[in-house]
Amino acid sequence: MVDKEGLPEEGKIWYNGVFVDWKEAKVHVLAHGLHYGSGVFEGIRCYATDKGSFIFRLNEHVDRMYRSAELYKLEIPYPKAEFKTAIKETVRINGLDACYIRPIAFYGYHHLGVNPEGCPVDCAIAAWRWGTYLGEEALENGIRCTFSSWRRIDPTTLPVTAKATGHYLNSLLAVLDAKERGFDEAILLDTNGHVAEGPGENIFAVKNATLYTPAAESSILPGITRDSVIELAQDIGYEVIEQPITKEELLTADEAFFTGTAAEVSPIREIDNATIGEGKRGEVTGVIQKKFFDVVNAKEAGYMGWLEPVRV
Ligand SMILES: Cc1ncc(COP(=O)(O)O)c(C=O)c1O
Repeated sequence: MVDKEGLPEEGKIWYNGVFVDWKEAKVHVLAHGLHYGSGVFEGIRCYATDKGSFIFRLNEHVDRMYRSAELYKLEIPYPKAEFKTAIKETVRINGLDACYIRPIAFYGYHHLGVNPEGCPVDCAIAAWRWGTYLGEEALENGIRCTFSSWRRIDPTTLPVTAKATGHYLNSLLAVLDAKERGFDEAILLDTNGHVAEGPGENIFAVKNATLYTPAAESSILPGITRDSVIELAQDIGYEVIEQPITKEELLTADEAFFTGTAAEVSPIREIDNATIGEGKRGEVTGVIQKKFFDVVNAKEAGYMGWLEPVRV
């Protein structure tokens, strides 16, 4: 992640229903979630606009978190509405406008049997200022990627649509490998050899002004940015086709880009040293990126329903 400088050390974190000082939001070393990756989380962005601060698609993020929890039989002990209120309150209490929000729910301290039954479900929400994930320059000029030798986790072994903490070991290996080999980011193939996604991003290819992306039922996390971009692209008038993409198709695409809460809409300019399109942000990517930033910055009246005001 970009946060090499580290996380802030001041502010309040919502922890099991109450706000505690940042440094006091601690976990026991024998917590179940720490040992077995048994937790679910979300990454959400809040944007500062000239109409106020808005959380992008809060409902969809909270829905996905509760769905992820259900897949791991983890019962979040708060109704969704209360959790959403706590998320907004976390932004407010920390005096933040533009920020990244990280809610998490995990099996806590009680026993260390793999079966989590009996362990409490601990929940926390933190928020802090966070700029672009892959760098400002990446949004404009694109990034250099590599096909990872690690395949994306498979739906036959894990519920890949869950945003679960343990799943991110797969992403971690892909990122480490890409960085070690001098690339900005990895692209993971699925176990059938089709293009799946990035370690924290969904992927799109553009050919003859049509967008292609792996289907939501494939080995991907169904991203909320992905869903938004599909709708925005169709709204602009582009055709979007959800189907398997081969390595070859991606390498010969006119354009390619990543989507994600952290990465937003990031052009891909090279894969394994092969230039994609003209080696810079493509025309279609540019149009979609602009539309996306207009929407999150509250400049598109038709999409205000995706923006949850932090202060009413
Ligand atoms: C593995 C993975 N794929 C895709 C995404 C993009 O999802 P979203 O657009 O909801 O942030 C993320 C980020 O959450 C992710 O971690």
